Parts: sequence; C-alpha cells; structure tokens
Amino acid sequence: MIDIVHDLDVLRARIAGWKREGLRIGLVPTMGNLHAGHHSLVRLARGYADRVVASVFVNPTQFGPHEDFDRYPRTPEADAAGLAEAGCDLMWAPTVATMYPFGPEAAVRMHVPGVTEVLEGARRPGHFDGVATVVSRLFLQVQPDVAAFGRKDYQQLAVIRHLVRDLAFPLELLAGAIVRDADGLALSSRNQYLAAHERRVAPRLYATLQAMRDGLRAGLAREAVEADAARTLEAAGFEVDYAVVRTPSLQAPADGDRGERVALLAARIGRTRLIDNLEFELGPG
Ligand code: PAF
Repeated sequence: MIDIVHDLDVLRARIAGWKREGLRIGLVPTMGNLHAGHHSLVRLARGYADRVVASVFVNPTQFGPHEDFDRYPRTPEADAAGLAEAGCDLMWAPTVATMYPFGPEAAVRMHVPGVTEVLEGARRPGHFDGVATVVSRLFLQVQPDVAAFGRKDYQQLAVIRHLVRDLAFPLELLAGAIVRDADGLALSSRNQYLAAHERRVAPRLYATLQAMRDGLRAGLAREAVEADAARTLEAAGFEVDYAVVRTPSLQAPADGDRGERVALLAARIGRTRLIDNLEFELGPG
C-alpha cells in the first residue's frame, strides 16, 4: 500500500519518523504520468534506501509561457498504482500553493550559471531555474539520503549535480539509465502526444544518435557528423533544434579524438518536442 500525501506537515511527520528509526530515504522527483523509466528510478533508489518517496508535481516554474503546462498529462491514480508496484512507499503530491506559498511568481528562485546557458537552457529560457527551484524545495521537504534522476534529461542531471555540489546538499545523486521502447524510442511522458505516423518516425532520433557515435568513431569530423544528423532528421520530417556532440561539461563543442562524449538531439515532430542523448567513449577501445 502506498501512502499518498498532499500536506507538508504530514510529509514532515513521516520523514521525521523514518529518520528516528535510522532509515535511509530515497527520493525520485517526477512530474507524474509515470512510465517504466520512472519505475526503474524507484527501483534504483530502493537499492540505496530503506524508504522511497516519489514526488508527483507538475512544476509551473519550469514551463515557458507557450509550453505545455496546461495540457501536460496528469494521471495521479495510475501514478500511485505504478509507484506502489515498483516498491515506492510514499507519493508526495503537493499542490502548487503548498510548493509555492507566495505563488510561483513570488517564489525564491535558484539559478545555476554556466551549464544552463546552452542547448535546452538557450532554447527554454528560465526552464532550468524552475527545475533547480523545485528540486531544491523537494530536497528540503524530503531530506533524502539519495535522489534518483534519469539520464534522458542529460543537461538537467548536469544542472542538479552542480546544484547539489555547490549548495552541499547532504545527499548522493543516482543517475538512472535511459529506458527505451523496443524500437529505440526513449520513454517520455510526451510520447503520448505523437500521432501514429509521428510515432513511427520517432525512433529515428535514437538511430541518428547511434549514427553520430559511429561516424565519430570512424574518424569523421564532428561538424560533418552534426550536419549529417540534422539533415537526416529534417528529411524524416523533424524540425531540429540541435544535433551536437559535447564533452560531459556540455559547455563547448567536443573536438579531439578521445575521451567521454555525449551526442544530444532536440527535435520537434508535429507539435511535440522530443530530446534524447547517447553517451559514449572515443579513442582506443
Ligand atoms: O524531470 C522531471 O520530471 C522534472 O524536471 C523534475 C526533475 C521532476 C522537476 O520538476
């Protein structure tokens, strides 16, 4: 049975009880509409904690004015059932007024410099401030020993790593592997926006990431690999925001022929914007 909590005092009482018993607490922050990727994060956190809390909160401060906050799918009953099955103990589902007592506009905000200024940050101004703001609040509310985030949101993970180190939040971050459908499409709550013909071409994103990796490993120039990826996706009907190869810091294009790399894509198919990435190693292997 999962405990569903909407009230901050109730959450604090549960957390205080667990801490008194000396139990380790894991947190999985989510915006709900959960799928197998989220459930895998619950199972990951479970391996490092005695009790797992999943937050389900569609966070208004991370959506731009023309983004999908209103139509973002909200499925709390199904979320609770899936979380219970994955081994989650408590679903923390605050209202906007509980998360932001003075309202989202008057909220104290967090800003992580540097890594938020490129890629997603450059295209979605304020998005990562909203993420850092709500994640900091969740850390303060739940006081977890470990917190699990998915690698699909690669840049988000980099932002949160910076936040945790810089503010010395006393917790360990866990990074969960990307969970994909059999045809390679990374699981995302936004996949359900895809019309049938869009869903059929969406796996091209992952195929393109693999081609980028293989091209670089075969010695092609990064610029050529990036341009080819963008062309391939445009030809398949995507509108490409970026198709790039970076080092893990994400800050600048990754040149040279060895070391850790990540290929990142953001592209729109119809009205739906999807992101994906692939981490790999270059050099003698
Ligand atoms: O990755 C998400 O679902 C959200 O950005 C997060 C981390 C739950 C913050 O709202």
